[in-house]
Amino acid sequence: MSIKNKPDRNLAMDMVRITEAAAISAARYMGTGDKEAGDQAAVDAMRAVLETVPVKGTVIIGEGEKDEAPMLYNGELVGMGIGPEVDVAVDPVEGTSLLAYGRPNSIAVIAMSEKGSMWHPGNSYYMNKLVVEKKAKNAIDITKTPTENLLAIGEALCREVKDLTVFILDKPRHNKMIDEIRASGARIALHSEGDVMGALMAAIPGTGIDVLMGIGGTPEGVIAAAAVKALGGGMQGQRAPQIKEEEENLKNDNVDIDEVLFLDNLINSDDAFFAATGITDGSFLEGVHFDREAGVTTHSLVIRALTGSVRNIKGQHQLKRPIDFKNRNTKEDFTV
Ligand code: FBP
Repeated sequence: MSIKNKPDRNLAMDMVRITEAAAISAARYMGTGDKEAGDQAAVDAMRAVLETVPVKGTVIIGEGEKDEAPMLYNGELVGMGIGPEVDVAVDPVEGTSLLAYGRPNSIAVIAMSEKGSMWHPGNSYYMNKLVVEKKAKNAIDITKTPTENLLAIGEALCREVKDLTVFILDKPRHNKMIDEIRASGARIALHSEGDVMGALMAAIPGTGIDVLMGIGGTPEGVIAAAAVKALGGGMQGQRAPQIKEEEENLKNDNVDIDEVLFLDNLINSDDAFFAATGITDGSFLEGVHFDREAGVTTHSLVIRALTGSVRNIKGQHQLKRPIDFKNRNTKEDFTV
C-alpha cells in the first residue's frame, strides 16, 4: 500500500459510525429471545453504513459463507470501492444470546487492517486464547500451563497472583482450567459469552480484568487480535477444535494444530483499526439507551494501531428521519 493509500485517521470516526448503527438497530431486539432478528438488524445496518465508507474492503471475517449469509459474507467486497484497500472483520452482534436475553456485554464490533494482513481462519472454528496488557506481553506462553502463565504475568505486572482476575467463558470445556486457576489463587470472572470483550478488557490496564484465558471462536480471536495489536497488548492463540468435523477438516488441510499463533500472525500490520459499540449495558461499555430528551445514546471505543490512539466516544443521536436499512424497517427514526 503506498503512503497516499494508507488508511487515514478519519477512518476511526467512520468505524464508529458503523458500529453505532449496528448497535442501535440491534438494541431494539434486547430481551426478545430472538437471536437471529437482532443479528440481522445489526448486519443490515452495518452493511448500509459500510457502503458509505471510502475504502476498498474485503470481508475476511464475516457472517459465514455466501449462501448461508446473504450479507457481510466472507470474501464480500464492501465500502465505497475507493481509497485504501483493507481487510475487514465484523461481528455485528458479539454475544447474540446476551442481546436476546438482555444480559450485559453484547457489543457491535468491526476491525480493519491493511489488505492481506488479516489471518484467515480457514476451517478452524475454535481457538485457545491468552491475552494480557502491554506490560505483560513478553511474559505469556500459551504452551505453558495456566499456573505458569499467571506466575509470569504477576511478576511482569508486579502483582501477586491472588490479585489477578482472569476472564474465562463459563463452558464445560474449561472445567479443568478453571480448577487450576482457582488452585493458583487468582480471581475468576466467568462469562457465558463474549470473549472479544474479555480480550479488550484484558488488554486495557485498569478494567478489572488482567488476563483472558480459554477457548472461544476463532473469528472472534482474529477480531480481538486487531484490538490487542492496536492497544500494544500481548496475545497468543492456538487452534483448539471442539467438534469432529472441524478436527477432520483441519487434518485434511494438513494444519499443524499445535502451531502457536502470535499477534503478528493474526494481524500482520501496524495499520489497523478496531471499533466497538455497546448494545446491552456492560461493565466496560454502556449499552444503547432510548431517551426522549437525549435521543438515542451510544458508547463506543475506537482504537488505531498506527498511533495507539484510544477514543471513548459517547454518541447522542437525534430522532430526525426514518432509516430503512436494506428495506428492513427498523422501527427506529434516527440518523448516524
Ligand atoms: P455469538 O455472538 O456468535 O453468539 O458468539 C458469542 C461467543 O461467546 C464468542 O464471544 C465466543 O468466542 C464464542 O461465542 C464461543 O463459542 P461457543 O459458545 O460455541 O463456545
